[in-house]
Amino acid sequence: MINPFQPELARIVDIKKETYDTTTYTFAFAKPTVQAEFGFLPGQFNMITLFGIGEAPISISSDPDERDTFQHTIRHVGNLTNALNRLQIGDTVGIRGAYGTGWPMDLLTGKNVLIIAGGIGLAPLRPVITQIFQRREDFDRVEVLYGARSPGDMLFTDQYEIWAQRLGVKLTVDVVPRGEQWLHQVGVVTKLLAVMDSVPENTVALTCGPEIMMKFVVRDLLSMGFEPEQIYVSLERRMSCGVKKCGKCQIGPKFTCRDGPVFAYAELLTLPELELGGVGR
Ligand SMILES: Cc1cc2nc3c(=O)[nH]c(=O)nc-3n(C[C@H](O)[C@H](O)[C@H](O)COP(=O)(O)OP(=O)(O)OC[C@H]3O[C@@H](n4cnc5c(N)ncnc54)[C@H](O)[C@@H]3O)c2cc1C
Ligand code: FES
Repeated sequence: MINPFQPELARIVDIKKETYDTTTYTFAFAKPTVQAEFGFLPGQFNMITLFGIGEAPISISSDPDERDTFQHTIRHVGNLTNALNRLQIGDTVGIRGAYGTGWPMDLLTGKNVLIIAGGIGLAPLRPVITQIFQRREDFDRVEVLYGARSPGDMLFTDQYEIWAQRLGVKLTVDVVPRGEQWLHQVGVVTKLLAVMDSVPENTVALTCGPEIMMKFVVRDLLSMGFEPEQIYVSLERRMSCGVKKCGKCQIGPKFTCRDGPVFAYAELLTLPELELGGVGR
């Protein structure tokens, strides 16, 4: 019998420091057959194991069409993620996945797409952006709004100019440290909603970031005329099994690991215990 909790060995083939506390790791499964069979949808996550330390859910941040490797962009905040920070190219970890729901890529075809990310929330949205970029003619107007604490906290900074060739890109930071140059907006990410080109008609909005950020994003989108069915959010909860067995990630009747992490906002309206549930009702 195959044990669903048995991770596969994956080797770190590249490490890129994004910011002082966030790193993008490129992995390849040690067994070529496992790597060849591995596929994922934009928005899905893997459970990453560091042997002797623990396991954590982390979104996949690379393009699903890259079949030889895959990437995770990880903020070093605690036991496992700080231990990862000490690993080097050639070291191995355990990985099982891909798990969870993805962003509604089929629904986006032929529509306007509005992507709103805060901080590390850009990581699970990057596969959406790369897919849209490559199949640009399948989508109508596409706009990316991204905010971080400061210019030094922005992820994937070498990508914005490339994305801007085919998509709208608007950036903001909460603060600009004295002496640093910043040519974009200053303020929280909802400030970009006031200056964006996107309109509700025929648009699907995808958002990921701190829950408090998503709460205000959803509130503002609803007040601009977006319907709950047009808004998708990615939620973060503590997880253990990742496959709807332990109940750790449960929000009422929903399991974030299996029913999410990507949810239509309309689905969350029925979950009053969730801070986001019922915003704007
Ligand atoms: C579906 C999903 C996708 C994710 N994708 C990413 C990603 O792409 N990149 C990334 O950097 N992180 C991501 N995370 C968050 C990541 O799982 C946690 O940061 C990680 O589990 C922390 O493990 P740790 O052992 O390093 O920290 P711990 O030692 O467990 O905790 C460190 C500190 O962070 C707090 N904390 C840790 N995890 C959470 C959490 N999930 N919610 C609230 N507080 C928490 C703890 O309370 C503690 O204060 C994702 C989480 C989920 C559920
Ligand atoms: S993490 Fe175990 S049920 Fe979701």
